Amino acid sequence: MHSVDATTEQMIRSVLAYAENRLRLDPVPLDEGSRDPAALDAVTEGLLSESGTNPDQVLGVYTSMLAPAVISADSPRFLGFIPAAPTKASLLFDMLISCASIQGISWLEAAGAIHAENQVLRLIADRAGLPDSAGGCFVSGGSAGNLSALVVAREMAKSRSGAGGPQRWRVAVGSDAHSSIVNTLRIVEMDALTVETDDHRLTGEALRKAIEDDGDPSSLAAVVATSGTTNAGIVDDLAGAAAVARDHGLWFHVDGAYGGAGLFAPSVRHKYDGIEHADSFVLDPHKWLFAPFDCAALLYRDPSLARSVHTQDASYLDVIHDKPAEWNPTDYAYHLTRRARGMPLWFSLAVHGVAAYTEAIEAAIRLARETADEIRSRPNLELVREPDLGVVLFRRKGWNTADYMAWADQLLADQVAFIPPSAWEGETIGRFAFLHPHTTMDLVREILDRLA
Ligand SMILES: Cc1ncc(COP(=O)(O)O)c(C=O)c1O
Repeated sequence: MHSVDATTEQMIRSVLAYAENRLRLDPVPLDEGSRDPAALDAVTEGLLSESGTNPDQVLGVYTSMLAPAVISADSPRFLGFIPAAPTKASLLFDMLISCASIQGISWLEAAGAIHAENQVLRLIADRAGLPDSAGGCFVSGGSAGNLSALVVAREMAKSRSGAGGPQRWRVAVGSDAHSSIVNTLRIVEMDALTVETDDHRLTGEALRKAIEDDGDPSSLAAVVATSGTTNAGIVDDLAGAAAVARDHGLWFHVDGAYGGAGLFAPSVRHKYDGIEHADSFVLDPHKWLFAPFDCAALLYRDPSLARSVHTQDASYLDVIHDKPAEWNPTDYAYHLTRRARGMPLWFSLAVHGVAAYTEAIEAAIRLARETADEIRSRPNLELVREPDLGVVLFRRKGWNTADYMAWADQLLADQVAFIPPSAWEGETIGRFAFLHPHTTMDLVREILDRLA
């Protein structure tokens, strides 16, 4: 298994040939997701045997049966949830990083990789206007980043309050915060002070009022604002929320898992004013910075605070903490072992230059605006709200949930688009999530035509 024998040579040829073909797909076809488990059982039956199976046979099952049963999130026709659109350069480098088995825990083991990852974190920190002292690490996703950051927030609140702290800490969040925030709070046994907003955008004013009206403000540890809500792409009033957090001595966390990449787009950069006050900030390059899964940048204004919370204490790890100046990504989140998942983005940014990223992000924003205009021009449709970033919400007058489901199912069956409906204030609606720079207005029109 670990030597380069005839079977290894065979696998190198056939797996790399498949990978090459996958990389060359342009555009990537949509394919289909859901399958009858019995059908999948039938094709995979017996493959995990005692004696093993010929690699070409196993690869054949993957290429012919399993891969087509996965909707390609990197297709320009994938317009649901939050898509993916990794650059070819980032995908190639991801393969290289996998082959190199880089153990991205510590400077001792992986200084070269960590240095490059930190360059990318610095680039993001600069775009956000965070101080030179800011730093962090790459984690698996926004959920992992939010969890790691809010644990630090809670520990800071605890140490400030000493023995007199509350039984359970709370966090003020907008009503449209991502489900991973709610999940985090449940996992770490904190509660939410949910700030209801009229327009789904957390404002400083609404936050201040909620805290002032609250019976127990001293139990608050943090404020979470979102820079690009998942369902609608709304950027909260970051400057207002930051000011309230500061006035109340609360940790200010910004969840930019989806929308943080808009920091690179001049046309919307002003919406992020105030982000420079964040104590912690999460941005998922596997969403709108065109990196492969899984990759989230987690930044802290003062990384020493995160280090004091997340550093793992084990005698066999003492050696990585011998030199305090050395940067150990493990110290900035709940993880220990980690792949150097920032490296594919580093390579791609270095190859293409930041301006190409700016242009690709702006392309989705432009497409969202043009789509909004197109929707406004069609009498049977209604725009739910002006798009802030790359998400467009609309309603087909007179339709119910079953109509939207039938429309979306048919679009997928015809391999036109993956565009599952969403909901807005209890009503089923249509939702475009634009991210891939090759999604076209022609495709948008074709999808809208089917709403007749
Ligand atoms: C705003 C926001 N926060 C957090 C997350 C969770 O990120 P991940 O899926 O990378 O864990 C998402 C995912 O869509 C998101 O949009």
